[in-house]
Amino acid sequence: MAILVTGGLGYIGSHTVVELLNNDFEVVIVDDLSNSEKFILNNIEEVSGKKPIFYPFDLRRKELLSQVFEAHNIEGCINFAAFKAVGESQEKPLEYYENNLFSLINILQEFKTRNVSNFIFSSSCTVYGQADQMPIDENTPLKMPESVYGKTKQMGEEILKDFALANQKKITLLRYFNPIGAHPSAKLGELPIGVPNNLVPYVMQTAAKIREKLSIWGDDYPTEDGTAVRDYIYVVDLAKAHVAALKKLIDSKEETVIDIYNLGTGKGSSVLEVVKAFESANNVDVPYQICDRRAGDITIAYANADKAEKELNWKADTSLEEALRTTWQWQKYLETR
Ligand code: NAD
Ligand code: WQD
Repeated sequence: MAILVTGGLGYIGSHTVVELLNNDFEVVIVDDLSNSEKFILNNIEEVSGKKPIFYPFDLRRKELLSQVFEAHNIEGCINFAAFKAVGESQEKPLEYYENNLFSLINILQEFKTRNVSNFIFSSSCTVYGQADQMPIDENTPLKMPESVYGKTKQMGEEILKDFALANQKKITLLRYFNPIGAHPSAKLGELPIGVPNNLVPYVMQTAAKIREKLSIWGDDYPTEDGTAVRDYIYVVDLAKAHVAALKKLIDSKEETVIDIYNLGTGKGSSVLEVVKAFESANNVDVPYQICDRRAGDITIAYANADKAEKELNWKADTSLEEALRTTWQWQKYLETR
């Protein structure tokens, strides 16, 4: 029996593949390398000592996907594959809807025709928008996200719930807060493709002098230091949650399961706190300037992840400093490649 991991050479996917292999799952990766590189496959093998099966194709190619299901005894899927750049999604809405939703539907069609269950979906805290209360638990009302990217996540969730109910399938929606950091081996991390939009990759490249200065988008938010607050979760902790969620899903004797978990640390950190933590964890400077707020940004978001702790026996316990140390080690590795 094997687990299909789509987007398994990407940032979160590659870390999760390592955890799955460490837990003796057989892994079949489909990734079209649209936002990843082939060397990650070798690094997964170096880190885990095991080689996953890899197919390089676009999940929108139904006939190829069908062949993978034909060739392997798939008992579940973790679906990471998606386009994820918020700004780009506003410029290319059709590409985002097509890639993120057609890929999902193609996999679900295989699930339906071949009687496969156990599906884990990479959702996002973006489905909550600016929540009225902190921390955010799973019962917090959803708000239609402003970005096309965010809408593909909310629509993906709805498609999956309808699919599970109509076909008696087991699915889990994992709503990630802000993933950061790299593997402790420094062999896996977030690839620096283009100019980073997210905070930690930009901080990393500023410390490495690839970027001159970090722009902090706004210091007039109603928070303690005026900069926006997020819940930064270490990527290896996040990867481990997938294994826990998958085991629970496989073990469940129910015919239909729709589980939803927030994956965060439960602690909010401001932009300035992240910058200071990066500097002190790595003994480097991160020059910055304060700029206007970024359009579409929310003020504050951090998770109540008690449900995941209780039901998955999982907790994100790596500190911000520790996670940021691995980010810097990853940058050093990239420089020597
Ligand atoms: P990533 O871009 O590093 O990984 C996604 C992988 O999917 C890439 O390797 C890419 O090549 C592949 N891919 C994309 N479209 C594909 C297709 N049609 N067919 C085959 N492969 C395809 O992204 P990530 O940060 O690892 O995110 C993984 C998932 O988690 C995504 O669904 C993302 O939306 C979601 N998510 C990410 C974050 C975050 O901040 N990183 C937060 C919340 C949710
Ligand atoms: C964090 C904070 C910025 C860059 C995005 C997506 C969301 C989810 C996670 C996938 C904000 C500030 C950033 C910079 C800055 N992804 N910042 N200077 O905005 O919480 O969410 O990634 O689902 O959908 O929208 O993350 O890392 O972009 O920003 O000041 O150069 O850092 O304004 O307050 P965000 P982020």
